[in-house]
Amino acid sequence: SFTNGSTAGKTLTVATEPTFPPFEFQSATGELQGFDIDLMNAIAQSAGFKVKYKNIPFDGMIPALQVQTVDAAVAAMAITAQRVKTISFSRPYFKSGVAIATRTDNQNITNLDSLKNKIIGVQIGTTGALKAKSLPGSEVRTFNDSPLTLQALLNGSVDAVLNDRVVILYGIKSGNLKGLKVVGSLLTEEFYGIPTPKGSPNLDLINQGLATVLKNGSYTKIYQKWFGT
Ligand code: ARG
Repeated sequence: SFTNGSTAGKTLTVATEPTFPPFEFQSATGELQGFDIDLMNAIAQSAGFKVKYKNIPFDGMIPALQVQTVDAAVAAMAITAQRVKTISFSRPYFKSGVAIATRTDNQNITNLDSLKNKIIGVQIGTTGALKAKSLPGSEVRTFNDSPLTLQALLNGSVDAVLNDRVVILYGIKSGNLKGLKVVGSLLTEEFYGIPTPKGSPNLDLINQGLATVLKNGSYTKIYQKWFGT
């Protein structure tokens, strides 16, 4: 093995939470796929390391990074002031935001104010969950994954769902969930980054790879694959 700092052949264990299409999800046969997975693979290829993915619940990801059982994560994770206290992030790679979903027959929920005293479904540990908990008088129901939040909305056990807009829209479209809609404007502006343990020596490597794929057209190709029309 190398002791001179060479990264050739190095393998990073990368956490993900694959219930978040189109960013990370599993095919019927259990294969990881999505924008984040393609991006991470391209970064690894450019920077010359290998990736071993490890599925962990979203609320376990930051703890796993802190105790360094994983080297990084790719999970549509927003760079927030709170999170940078405990972990580091790569440069931002995707602009996103939290939106409100409700049933198409619900005329009362149209914006943030109308969520007062409503039951809101969220995925545990997400920025959507944080936003929901900040609303006065709302009851927050927490689910382990994002598809479960939309199911709860469909079957009426929650009145609204707060989650990343792109993910809600993709869920509605791919699941043909005709009874659901997105209302109002974005509740947050967030930028996804690739987190690592604080001060990780791998952060430079990841940022270098990310810079390369942003420059050489790989990012655009991956973006087109998942978001192009
Ligand atoms: N962008 C949101 C956040 O940073 C949700 C991310 C959830 N990701 C996932 N793979 N389940 O909290």
